[in-house]
Amino acid sequence: MAGDYIVKDIALAEFGRKELNIAETEMPGLMALREEYGDSKPLKGARIVGSLHMTIQTAVLIETLVALGADVRWASCNVFSTQDHAAAAIAAGDIPVFAIKGQSLEEHWDYLDKSFLFDEGPNMILDDGGDATLYVLLGARAEAGEDIIPVPQSEEEAVIKAQIKKRMEASPGWFTKTRDAIMGVSEETTTGVHRLYELQKNGQLPFPAINVNDSVTKSKFDNKYGCKESLVDGIRRATDTMMAGKVAVVCGYGDVGKGSAASLQGAGARVKVTEADPICALQAAMDGFEVVLLEEALDADIFITTTGNKDIIRIEHMREMKDMAIVGNIGHFDNEIQVAALKNHKWTNIKEQVDMIEMPSGNRMILLSEGRLLNLGNATGHPSFVMSASFTNQVLAQIELFTRGDQYENEVYILPKHLDEKVAALHLGRVGAKLTKLTSEQASYIGVTPEGPFKPEHYRY
Ligand code: NAI
Repeated sequence: MAGDYIVKDIALAEFGRKELNIAETEMPGLMALREEYGDSKPLKGARIVGSLHMTIQTAVLIETLVALGADVRWASCNVFSTQDHAAAAIAAGDIPVFAIKGQSLEEHWDYLDKSFLFDEGPNMILDDGGDATLYVLLGARAEAGEDIIPVPQSEEEAVIKAQIKKRMEASPGWFTKTRDAIMGVSEETTTGVHRLYELQKNGQLPFPAINVNDSVTKSKFDNKYGCKESLVDGIRRATDTMMAGKVAVVCGYGDVGKGSAASLQGAGARVKVTEADPICALQAAMDGFEVVLLEEALDADIFITTTGNKDIIRIEHMREMKDMAIVGNIGHFDNEIQVAALKNHKWTNIKEQVDMIEMPSGNRMILLSEGRLLNLGNATGHPSFVMSASFTNQVLAQIELFTRGDQYENEVYILPKHLDEKVAALHLGRVGAKLTKLTSEQASYIGVTPEGPFKPEHYRY
């Protein structure tokens, strides 16, 4: 249906299309899937609810799903991450999309609701952080008269509950019917994957799920090399601060932390790391970073959380920071920094997604994207090339769940290694990498076949 969208300005579509055309040249995995499956259309009949940052790269993903036969409705998974020209280009192509950069929380959940409203109802979810899955499962629980489980971001709880109530009143039984029609979900990120395993553990996962994040060609590339480029990009666009010589603290040294520390180090900052896991702490130390307690590093200039955990930078930390310290988060949710505790302080908005907050001591702090993931709030997220690897996994996961979902239990799965290797292989040409072919003697000597898979399941990369 034409006009079935909410975007900032449809006139931005032409600009969006130009950038989409450029992005396609950097997304060889997605373009190869269009080539491979464009005629057979394995997603014909799939009605996919997408909840993932509405960027230019996501627009290429959406158009790939459509080229493979799917019907798609889309919302962003974060209030600040939409690129309005990307959303406009998608809307102009008659694909329903509901996303505006800077939308309110109420709009966020309303737009997510709208992305479910296919005439025949959806049958697939493509999620980033788990909000779409959470919405339908919480709603179905509410319809069954059960208590709605507490949601991780507590300040959003009231908004989510209100949206669920609205939908229940408008369409009784809708959540249960929708949940029962879903054939599967593919999940993009670490935080959403945590939620899925939790549901599986509690016997509450009503459909199969594919954990896209833990494809090697996702988390070891997007989370790491993506953040390596997009973290400093976000800080620079927000603050124009000189990074060289400054002291930066990165909280967490998982995949995102590794990329973030490398990003800041590459810009010339002196980087310290905090960690809770001794393995990651040792990795950080042996990569040359000082591993410290946050309490001992509060005289730093820049603080970045990357943990996917809550209450990492707390109010007592922020009160001790020096004047004009820069604080931001690149993890999925905003609860890594205790932003709620700053609400009664004096805020001065500098520009979109940049605020200066005055502490009782008189020291000021620069907070990026109100504590939401700053690489998408203050910049444009990861470059297309690395997102091509992530999204090629997403498309393969959607094909797998839609065409062979009946062969899966209601559990969380990872794509098989030969597909992971295929995703990597599709990206080699663009960077001029040449692959050595194993002889059959060499292959059998190391216990593989010349076509792969080249590593056992337990290999860690
Ligand atoms: P991970 O699990 O590999 O790393 C998180 C690390 O934080 C772990 O090593 C853990 O030990 C550490 N940690 C936990 N609590 C801590 C504490 N209190 N102090 C210090 N360290 C602590 O997870 P990954 O893949 O690095 O993802 C982190 C977050 O980033 C997730 O929320 C994920 O969804 C998100 N993400 C964001 C992206 C972006 O573009 N902004 C891209 C990919 C993931």
